[in-house]
Amino acid sequence: MNQPVDAFLATPPQTATATTTVGASPPHESARLHVAGRAPYIDDLPELAGTLHGAFGLSPVPHGRLRAIDLARLRAQPGVVAVLTAADVPGENNCGPLVHDDPIFAADALTYRGQPVFLVVAQTREQARRAASMAAAVLDIEALPARMTALEGHAAGDHVVPPMHLARGDAAAALAAAPHRLQGRFSLGGQEQFYLEGQIACALPQENDALLVHSSTQHPSEMQQLIAHALGWPSHRVQVVCRRMGGAFGGKESQSAVFACAAALAAQRLQRPVKLRPDRDDDFLITGRRHGFEFRYDVGFDDHGRVLGVEIDMISNSGHSADLSAPVMSRALCHFDNAYWLPDVAMHGYSARTNTQSNTAFRGFGGPQGAMAIEVILDRIARTLGRDALAVRQANFYGVGERDVTPYEQRVEDNVIHPLVEQLAREGRYAERRAEIAAYNAASPVLKKGLALTPVKFGISFNVAHLNQAGALVHVYTDGSVLVNHGGTEMGQGLNTKVAQVVAQELGLPLAQVRVTATDTQKVANTSATAASTGSDLNGKAAQNAARQIRDRLATLAAEKLGGAASEVDFSAGRVRSGERSIGFGELVQLAYLARVQLWSDGYYATPGLHWDRQRLKGRPFFYYAYGGALSEVLLDTLTGEWKLLRADVLHDVGRSLNPALDIGQVEGAFVQGMGWLTMEELVWQPADGSRRSGELLTHAPSTYKIPTANDCPASLSVRLFDNHNGADSIHRSKAVGEPPLLLPFSVFFALKDAVSAAGGHRSEPPLRAPATSEALLDAIDAVRAAP
Ligand code: MTE
Ligand code: MOS
Repeated sequence: MNQPVDAFLATPPQTATATTTVGASPPHESARLHVAGRAPYIDDLPELAGTLHGAFGLSPVPHGRLRAIDLARLRAQPGVVAVLTAADVPGENNCGPLVHDDPIFAADALTYRGQPVFLVVAQTREQARRAASMAAAVLDIEALPARMTALEGHAAGDHVVPPMHLARGDAAAALAAAPHRLQGRFSLGGQEQFYLEGQIACALPQENDALLVHSSTQHPSEMQQLIAHALGWPSHRVQVVCRRMGGAFGGKESQSAVFACAAALAAQRLQRPVKLRPDRDDDFLITGRRHGFEFRYDVGFDDHGRVLGVEIDMISNSGHSADLSAPVMSRALCHFDNAYWLPDVAMHGYSARTNTQSNTAFRGFGGPQGAMAIEVILDRIARTLGRDALAVRQANFYGVGERDVTPYEQRVEDNVIHPLVEQLAREGRYAERRAEIAAYNAASPVLKKGLALTPVKFGISFNVAHLNQAGALVHVYTDGSVLVNHGGTEMGQGLNTKVAQVVAQELGLPLAQVRVTATDTQKVANTSATAASTGSDLNGKAAQNAARQIRDRLATLAAEKLGGAASEVDFSAGRVRSGERSIGFGELVQLAYLARVQLWSDGYYATPGLHWDRQRLKGRPFFYYAYGGALSEVLLDTLTGEWKLLRADVLHDVGRSLNPALDIGQVEGAFVQGMGWLTMEELVWQPADGSRRSGELLTHAPSTYKIPTANDCPASLSVRLFDNHNGADSIHRSKAVGEPPLLLPFSVFFALKDAVSAAGGHRSEPPLRAPATSEALLDAIDAVRAAP
C-alpha cells in the first residue's frame, strides 16, 4: 500500500479533542480522505459481478420529430446487451420534478440537441459509448426550426410556466413623477455547475422486485419517487443512497433524475446491476445549468440616486422544459431588491422556452440574477449623477424600523447591512483607495484600475413553505458511540460535519464519538432536497431534536442514580454531572440499556412562521436574511482586455458560526465561483442554422469552457465573518452560508466596469455585458472611448 498516505490517514485530526463542538473548527469529516484520494464516490464502489454499463444516445438536432430508431443496428454493435427507449418505460416516461414535461427518453418530439433518446447497455462503458455515439446514424428525424435564445422564445410568447408578476405601489406613476429616469437592458449569461464528480447512478436489483440505487444526488427522496413512477411501483420498493457527492452546486437537485431513472429501468429490465456515468461532454450536453437572463428596465430616481420607482422585465432562458424554472424565477423576483428599499416597483418574470438543455438550480437559484439586475441599475444611476457608487448604494439600503418592507411584503427585521458595509469600507480603506486609484489612472493610459463595493442580502428558506422540514435518526450504542443519519446530503459543503458537531454538543461528547452515515431513503423518509442553503438549518435542528430526546431520557436516569433534578443534569466533555457527582457517558448508557431506556430517537424539524402566496407572490417566504459585502480592486489592460483581481476583502454574516473554518471555505469558494460566472465562464450555442453543429452547445468541456483556477484567485483574498448572531431561533443562532456569498463577486464585475469607465474618462456608461470576458471588456472599452 501507499505508505505516506496510510500514515497520514492514521494520524487523527488535530482538532478532534474532547471540547470540539459547535463554534470550533474541526476539519470536514472527510477532509483526510478527500486529500488522500480515499473518499469513495459512486464510481469507486466495487462493481458486482455482471455489472453492465449504460450510455445515452443523444438527439443530434435541437428540434425535430423522431420517426424511427434503427434498433437492430444498435443491438448488433459489439458488447451491446440491450437498447432501451421510451417504449421500454413501464410507468410514466417522465423525470420532471414539478411539471411532467421532461421525458426520460424523448419519444416523438426532440426538443434539444443532446436530449437522451435511447440508452445503450453494454458489457463495458466503452462499448456502450461507442454504440451510443451512432445516434445520428440510427435516428430517422424530421428536423424542425428551433429557437435558441430567451428573447426569441419570449417574443414568440412561448414560456415553460406562466409569466409571474410581483408589484408594490404604482411604479408607472412613480416613474412619471421622478426627477430622473433611465431605461436600459442588460444581458447576463448562464453558468455550468462543473461539479468535479459528474452525474452518475448505479442501480442494483434486489429481491422480490426492488432496487437499490446509488445516485449522486442532492435529492434522494425525489429520485426514489421518480424511479418508482417510471417503473409503476410504490416508493417502498426503491432505496436511494448517497454517501457523498463530488460537488453538485444545484446541478444534482433535479437533474440527477434522468440518470437515476434510466439506470433503474435498465437494471430492473435486465436483472443486472447497471451503472450510468456519462462522459463530461455528454454531461454538459444532457443537463442544464444556471439560467441566463435578459433584463429590460425603466427606473426613476432623485438627485441622491434614491430609487423612486422601477419596472423590470426578467426573461430567463429556461430551456426546453419547466424543471425548476418557476421557483428560480420566484427567487429572482424576490432578490431584485437585494439590500435596497424599492418603494414602487413592478417586476415581470418570463421563463422563456428555448431548444436548449433545461436550465436548473445553481447556487443562489435565481437570487444572484435578480440581485445583479438592481446592482446594474444602481451602478448606472451613480455614474449618471456623477456620484460615488457606494454612496448611492448606501442611500438605497433598507432602513431599520422604517423603509424595511420588501416588495413581497416580508419585513426585514434583522438588517445589519449598514454596520457591515461601514466596517468593510472603513477597514478596506474604500475612500482612500478610490482617490489612489483615480491618481493611478490619471497617470496610466493603458492599464486602468477599478474598485467596487457591493452588498448582499439573501433570504434563507425554500420559497415554498412545505419544503422547510427535515428528519434525523440518532442511535446511541451501548458502548457510548453515536451514529447519526439525517435527510441532508453531503456535497463537500460540510453538512455532515456540522450535524455531527450539533449532536456532539447536545450529548456533551467529543466529536470523534459521533459518526454520520450515508443519506438513505430507508432511514429518513420524504426528505427535501439539500438546497436553498438550508441543509444545516433544517437537518441540524432535526438531529438536535433527536439527540435532545435521548439526552432527556438519560438525564432522568442520571438524576435517579446521582441525585438532583433531571433538568439540572449537565452533559459535557464525555461526562454527565448532577450536583457534585458525575458519571462517564458510556457508563450511563450501559445503565440505561440495562434499565430498558430507549437509546435511539428520531427527530423532526419544521421551520416556523413561513407562508407564501404563490399567486400573488407575497408572504413571509424567508426565516431570516444573511448579509455580506465585498470590496474588490482590479487591474485591466485596455489593449488586450486581460485583467487581474488584485485584492478582495469580504465581510460576511453567518450569524454565530457553527464551524468558522467550513464557513470561510464556503465563502471563498462561492466568491471565486461567482467571479467565474460573471467574468470568464461563457456558454456558446451554435445557432439553429441547419449546419452539422446546428443548435449544439459548443462549450461543452474544459477545453472550451473556462472556470477559474488557483491562478485567478487574488493574491490577497481576505474573508472575515461579521460579528453577529441570528435573531431567528436557528440552529445555535447560526446562519446558512451555502449560497449567499455567491453574490459577493458582483464587486469584481463592477470594479471591472469602473476600470472600463476610467478608460473613457468616466464620460459615459460602459455597455458591459456579463460574463465580462476579455472580448466583452474590449467591446465596452471601444464604446466608452468612442462616446462623445
Ligand atoms: N459547497 C460545495 N463544496 N459543493 C457544493 O456542491 N453546493 C452549494 C453550497 N455549497 C455546494 C457547496 C449549494 S447550491 C447549496 S444550496 C448548498 O451548498 C447546499 O448545502 P447546505 O444547505 O448544507 O449549505
Ligand atoms: Mo442550491 S442551487 O439550492 O442546490
